[in-house]
Amino acid sequence: MNIRPARVDDLPGMQACNQQNLPENYTMKYYLYHSLSWPSISYVAEDHKGRIVGYILAKMEEESEQQEDRHGHVTSISVLRSYRRLGLAKKLMIQSQEAMTRIYRAKFVSLHVRKSNRAALSLYRDTLGFTVKKVESKYYADGEDAYAMELSLSQ
Ligand code: ACO
Repeated sequence: MNIRPARVDDLPGMQACNQQNLPENYTMKYYLYHSLSWPSISYVAEDHKGRIVGYILAKMEEESEQQEDRHGHVTSISVLRSYRRLGLAKKLMIQSQEAMTRIYRAKFVSLHVRKSNRAALSLYRDTLGFTVKKVESKYYADGEDAYAMELSLSQ
């Protein structure tokens, strides 16, 4: 399995992977927005035939001028079912985080996750060290709450 930065021609494969794995789906325009605005912080995992089996779609939150507020945000991450528990999501997260720090001097990274998403919560909290900053009530379209989580990127 190979992990590499996502290119524009990977976006349909990332979208297909997202649609298989998650109820939160996005238009191609939204994928393009990420890829063209922040081309080096989204990554894909591909199999030996170059098929996309996992992705991380990430952006920078740049609304603030304050250096300490500069942070990355994981819009979406997923791995196809038959490729799970191989460490791919962990690698995708770490590569993206490293790029956020190196290229944009991100101070921290944020994301939202469903309260019921045991696998993702374990990845974020137990494996990567994210903490829950707040609960966002009815964040998802079906009414489920989200944990808003963050991880400091400064050593
Ligand atoms: N149960 C418990 N812990 C888990 C699970 C699970 N099913 N899956 C991963 N973990 C934890 C473990 O601590 C694991 O380490 P270990 O295997 O050494 O025990 C660690 O996370 C790293 O696991 P990876 O192998 O890197 O994770 P994987 O590649 O399987 O992908 C993911 C995890 C992305 C959550 C996958 O299950 C998935 O695609 N789920 C559906 C989509 C999804 O929920 N995406 C996240 C939504 S939130 C967002 O996008 C910001």
